[in-house]
Amino acid sequence: MTKKLEFPENFLWGGATAANQVEGAYDVDGKTLSLMEMIPFKEIEDRKNTSGSKVTKQTLLDSIDNKAGLHFPKRHGIDFYHRYKEDIALFKEAGMKIFRMSIAWTRIFPNGNDKEPNKAGLEFYRNVFKECKKQGLEVMVTINHFDLPFWILEKQISWQSEELKNNYLRFAYLVIDEFHEYVKYWLPFNEINLGALIATSLLNENKNSMLENVLASYNDLHVQFVLQAKVIKYARKYKDIKVGCMVADVTSYSIDCNPENVMENLKMDQMKKFFYYDVMAKGEYPSYALRMFKEYGVKIDKTPEDDKILKENPIQFISFSYYMSGTTTKTGGELTEANGLKAGKNPFLEATEWGWQIDPIGLRYTLNQLWDRYHLPLFISENGIGVLEKLNENNTVDDDYRIDYLGRHFEQMSEAIKDGVNLFGYTMWTPIDVVSASTNEMSKRYGLIFVDYDDYHNGTGNRFKKKSYNWFKNFLETKEI
Ligand code: BG6
Repeated sequence: MTKKLEFPENFLWGGATAANQVEGAYDVDGKTLSLMEMIPFKEIEDRKNTSGSKVTKQTLLDSIDNKAGLHFPKRHGIDFYHRYKEDIALFKEAGMKIFRMSIAWTRIFPNGNDKEPNKAGLEFYRNVFKECKKQGLEVMVTINHFDLPFWILEKQISWQSEELKNNYLRFAYLVIDEFHEYVKYWLPFNEINLGALIATSLLNENKNSMLENVLASYNDLHVQFVLQAKVIKYARKYKDIKVGCMVADVTSYSIDCNPENVMENLKMDQMKKFFYYDVMAKGEYPSYALRMFKEYGVKIDKTPEDDKILKENPIQFISFSYYMSGTTTKTGGELTEANGLKAGKNPFLEATEWGWQIDPIGLRYTLNQLWDRYHLPLFISENGIGVLEKLNENNTVDDDYRIDYLGRHFEQMSEAIKDGVNLFGYTMWTPIDVVSASTNEMSKRYGLIFVDYDDYHNGTGNRFKKKSYNWFKNFLETKEI
């Protein structure tokens, strides 16, 4: 039995990718290495326990002369750099209306302090945007998708250094000036709640536990909040563009109705979720965070000028990624993986092979929470399911589980819209298989389109439509699940 869902006519349906997971061509046309391209592939021993594997500053440094002969998947991606026309044509054929992608900083300012931007890098992105325009796709650009240039390691600097801040702004302002005609939606930082943490953990060798890393990352995060607000201010000169945030949203439920657990869950929601939106949408640090900072001895190095910038430049829309939900207890229950972090297990939910708990209703719950609290337009910038897949004898993948996953999430989005939520678009992760951000695997596949590369980049790189590709195309035409 099919069911017809209701969505506004101009709803932006599409797909999302990130430069370091798709482009490859890491040393072509003047590009230098980014930190993500310096993380070697490691066979996964236990897919349900991946967030423990540590990458240190030394791991990154060792990658330069690569004496151990290791493989670096993000240097190769899926060769989008050379095959983007074919890929964009496939997105268009599926009926997509928007494509979310990121720009590699290391293609535009390969050495950071370059006098002029790299022309070949600008030309590549201009060509991609022109192709999107030709195919009738709007574009959403993430200015920084977990991707730091190699030179920051060489210079031993962090987000708090004036040099990195100035270079980021130079890069962000330049790409907005260059591409505002093609790109309507801009996200200064991908998953801002994870990005600063990743940078702090990679660059700060003294911190060992997750808690220490989180506490140490608040100052890097503050820098990103302020930089993002500056980008919003700058972008106002172009009337047609909008700048929003991007947060990794993990919905959290109390494990039961014990008030101790319910209170713990509220605290979890505050610090792991609302804190980010509150600062970016309301322009000030919320009181619960100030209390937490006091108790844990966190001192945010912030100036009155920072406060003014944050207050005057709130985000214009909210975007977030949504893959799973988790549970909270005061005493600590059984944990499972949850997008770079861990979350409490929920006995009512199934999980993927990587332990990510599938919860479509949690998406409606989150959409309602965010709309009620902020009344800003909402956009789901990532959602999808990673699975181990192989091509069958018909050169396709019968991925009914993905069809089921997408259909059930779309149903809840439609319900949220009926609840009155202003949700204006959705870019699935991903329209095409890419290298996994967290595990570096090619075999953790999210795409509607299969890419013939294995974890070691063996294969033809050819693209094949999965069953879900045809389902998605049909859904966009009929809105039937
Ligand atoms: C998000 C990131 O965290 O989740 C993407 O923005 C990432 O870059 C996606 O690929 C899925 O995570 P993973 O680790 O399965 O690739």
